Amino acid sequence: MSDGSLLEVNNLSVTYWGRMGLNLKRKSFQAVKGVTFSIKPGQTLGVVGESGSGKSSIANAILGLVKSSGGSIRLGETELTEMNMHYPSTIRKQMQAVFQDPFSSLNQSMTVEEIVGEPLRVHTEMSRAERREKVIEILETVSMSKEHIRRYPHEFSGGQRQRIAIASALALEPRLVVLDEPVSALDVSTQNKIINLLYKRRDALGIAYLLIAHDLALVHHISDRIAVMYLGRIVEEGPADQVYSSPAHPYTRALLDAVPLLDPAKQRQRRAARKSATVVELLTDDKPGCSYQNRCPEVMAVCRQKTPPVFPVDGGGVASCYLYSDAESTS
Ligand SMILES: Nc1ncnc2c1ncn2[C@@H]1O[C@H](COP(=O)(O)OP(=O)(O)O)[C@@H](O)[C@H]1O
Ligand SMILES: [Mg+2]
Repeated sequence: MSDGSLLEVNNLSVTYWGRMGLNLKRKSFQAVKGVTFSIKPGQTLGVVGESGSGKSSIANAILGLVKSSGGSIRLGETELTEMNMHYPSTIRKQMQAVFQDPFSSLNQSMTVEEIVGEPLRVHTEMSRAERREKVIEILETVSMSKEHIRRYPHEFSGGQRQRIAIASALALEPRLVVLDEPVSALDVSTQNKIINLLYKRRDALGIAYLLIAHDLALVHHISDRIAVMYLGRIVEEGPADQVYSSPAHPYTRALLDAVPLLDPAKQRQRRAARKSATVVELLTDDKPGCSYQNRCPEVMAVCRQKTPPVFPVDGGGVASCYLYSDAESTS
């Protein structure tokens, strides 16, 4: 029962077991709490949220690197959660990943030729010579040259290493690439270059991206839709321009407010307005109601009683926020 989406994640949960702080008893911690989204072929979903909100846990559950504790993940016609993290080569071929730190994700003892050629070696019948041709061709698409193929990752800058990682991820022209903070470790000008590169390759190859970032401003251009995460939940999801230019959820507004304003007077004004909302309380797990209640400048009585369901907002998005509860009857 496909709705035309390539990836469909439904009510996904990820739970870790371990000792928390000084507590010696093993305790469970739900890092992802019933997250639902889908991505159409060739489209990009940007997932943003601060550190610890569960973004990588979602990525890793999709990639089969951590076990989900509930819900479903469908890629094409295949239900991934039923495979218990052992994906067959037909699935691994369709889905590739790029991580934040190309220094640790690239094998330091392999040359660029070997790194970029690795997926071709594993998944195709190409000869060594054919692979070399293909590697050179792919490297050109990420603005790296033939002269680079015999070198090792440590000989390159962070941006170049990320280009190598992207070249390797795109070598097989997968249907989906999961990008977990691919530019967070890079300086600002390199960030924009890599985002542009991803944009061009996506449009040339028709690949879908799940693009994780903590900077909404950086990814909204390349994203078709944006999902905003807070403490394991998606609090807002919608068309990228809509979420960026008229954010509905108070948390999304706070995230956007973190981008400095050029006008110092406006910046001062905003800082004053935010003072009341700076009480940070993480791990509101045991408390009923919205997980953003203690930081929300617009908190209402109902927000402390039960977790807000998803309500439609103007412009085709949804927000998990009681400010939009009256919209329910209109849809
Ligand atoms: N392997 C793990 N064991 C226990 N807790 C973990 C593990 N990985 C992540 N967490 C916790 O889960 C939460 C979400 O982490 P993560 O998915 O990495 O968030 P993000 O990528 O948004 O920073 C964090 O509180 C983190 O400490
Ligand atoms: Mg992460």
